[in-house]
Amino acid sequence: MSNPFADALARFLNCFERALADCSSLTGTGPLKKIEAIIKPFKLDEVKDALHEVGVSGITVTEAKGFGRQKGHTELYRGAEYVVDFLPKVKLEIVVPDTLAEATVEAIAASAQTGRIGDGKIFVSDIQTAIRIRTGEQDDAAL
Ligand SMILES: Nc1ncnc2c1ncn2[C@@H]1O[C@H](COP(=O)(O)OP(=O)(O)OP(=O)(O)O)[C@@H](O)[C@H]1O
Ligand SMILES: [Mg+2]
Repeated sequence: MSNPFADALARFLNCFERALADCSSLTGTGPLKKIEAIIKPFKLDEVKDALHEVGVSGITVTEAKGFGRQKGHTELYRGAEYVVDFLPKVKLEIVVPDTLAEATVEAIAASAQTGRIGDGKIFVSDIQTAIRIRTGEQDDAAL
């Protein structure tokens, strides 16, 4: 004999289970980090090779201009002292699983360093969600 209360409870639990499954496909399996690096343009190839070794799956590169604490004044670019505030730089953006973040930062720091002023900066931040547009895959699966 069917028990209306038990049936309703079963339907509710079923619904709840599906909602949980949907939810976990939205949030993915682990935390992601974004690593932004401002580097000297001539270092780009070397840094790219180092990042390849680490196994990052994608890189965004943007031509940038900027200055650090010398305000661009005393820094040399291609042998000439720049009189303007902004010096040419390259900005890299890389999103990786948390587990790769340290290796990624170390690879950039080692390959971009000349030891002179203006070598650049690395900024690390948390990423909430990543989505591959073609498939709708999310987070780790979207990288
Ligand atoms: N606080 C910052 N916020 C955002 N971008 C920055 C910051 N500091 C530096 N940058 C970017 O990084 C580039 C390189 O900075 P730079 O390496 O000259 O920093 P620095 O603090 O002056 O260190 P150094 O004394 O080694 O030159 C700048 O041209 C700018 O694009
Ligand atoms: Mg500087």
